[in-house]
Amino acid sequence: MQQHPAREAVTWDENGTPGSAVWLSASGRPAPKRAVTVDDRLTADRAIGFASQGTAMLWQGDFQGAKQILSAIGRRLAKQGARPGKRGAEPATTEEQFYRIRQARAQRSRILSLILIPVDLPRGGPASIPLPRAPRIDAAVPFAYGGAPVGDQDRAVVSLQELVGVLSAHQWYVNGVDVPSLGAKIHPHYGTFMPTRHEYVDLVAAAPLPALDVAFDIGTGTGVLAAMLAKRGVGRVVGTDLHQRAADCATDNFERLGISDVAEARVCDMFPDGRASLVVCNPPWLPGSAATSLDAAIYDPGSQMLLSFLAGLPDHLAEGGEGWLIISDLAEMLGLRTREMLLDAIAHAGLVVVDRLDTTPTHGRAADTDDVLHAARSREVTSLWRLRVA
Ligand SMILES: C[S@@+](CC[C@H](N)C(=O)[O-])C[C@H]1O[C@@H](n2cnc3c(N)ncnc32)[C@H](O)[C@@H]1O
Repeated sequence: MQQHPAREAVTWDENGTPGSAVWLSASGRPAPKRAVTVDDRLTADRAIGFASQGTAMLWQGDFQGAKQILSAIGRRLAKQGARPGKRGAEPATTEEQFYRIRQARAQRSRILSLILIPVDLPRGGPASIPLPRAPRIDAAVPFAYGGAPVGDQDRAVVSLQELVGVLSAHQWYVNGVDVPSLGAKIHPHYGTFMPTRHEYVDLVAAAPLPALDVAFDIGTGTGVLAAMLAKRGVGRVVGTDLHQRAADCATDNFERLGISDVAEARVCDMFPDGRASLVVCNPPWLPGSAATSLDAAIYDPGSQMLLSFLAGLPDHLAEGGEGWLIISDLAEMLGLRTREMLLDAIAHAGLVVVDRLDTTPTHGRAADTDDVLHAARSREVTSLWRLRVA
């Protein structure tokens, strides 16, 4: 389980009485510098006013009221963002449009993150929210924030926006994500990449296996692809991930699926030592910086993971082995990468394309006409590139 990062404090002033509590953030967001106490009288406009000065608002009213104000702020910000002429000239390119969408989303998320709620963390006891009509958080808090106590204080504050996400992620973990081609459920730990868009897993279920001895799964996340290879009869699968929480999650899923004798997960930067007949990698599909730890499964800064995978394959493939790169063309449609760049990187690494299996997404977003990226997403093709050493 993930451990708490270094403790920061949030301080506030309530009618001349100073208050302070430990800051909890599972996504690595820094503690707000200033805070005021607010209650059910807070309006969305006033909240946006506080947020624009960088002032966080510690909620002291009814919990459901806090959720309502969070929704009201979200609606107000969406309306402001949609107002014509607000952001200057129309974006010229899809890349520029995407950049602006990302910027607007980051700004919206920063503002929403400033509504804080108190959390009681008694030593050895269950975590709870000391507000009327609050949900139970005793299982979700250790799930996302680790099990360690918060030091000598037993009061912490969290961003309500993050806590809502934590509660939803915990439900996904408890219920599991059904992966039809695996014929099983995968239980994602907090912050791991969820295989809800399972068409990419279907590609790994369908591609012809070069051999059944050893496979590596680079960036294993929940371990879903390693599990698929084990189900298909590969005798030994080693999954790697940069993050401990992903390695723990994959290990947990291997145990649940009864394949721990075949599949193992390690914390490691890219490849484990040695060679394998099959090396699979599903890197984050969009080049770009990752603002929070949750973004790190979606954005690959400078296409670093994609390029390291291609460059490292020849040194990790056994004779006659194959590298399977799983990637969609969304980045190409958004103008963030070209097909030529990908083909050049493949050739530059001394690899050839043996075959490519394509699939189109069936996930919700592709059919969501409200999504500004709809045009790109509805045409997105996800591919499994079968690569060999030239
Ligand atoms: C898009 S997710 C894919 C997860 C999983 N393989 C799947 O298909 O559902 C990419 C994963 O790569 C991991 N990752 C990123 N950089 C890495 C690196 N340098 N070495 C190993 N893993 C890395 C991330 O932590 C993340 O779990």
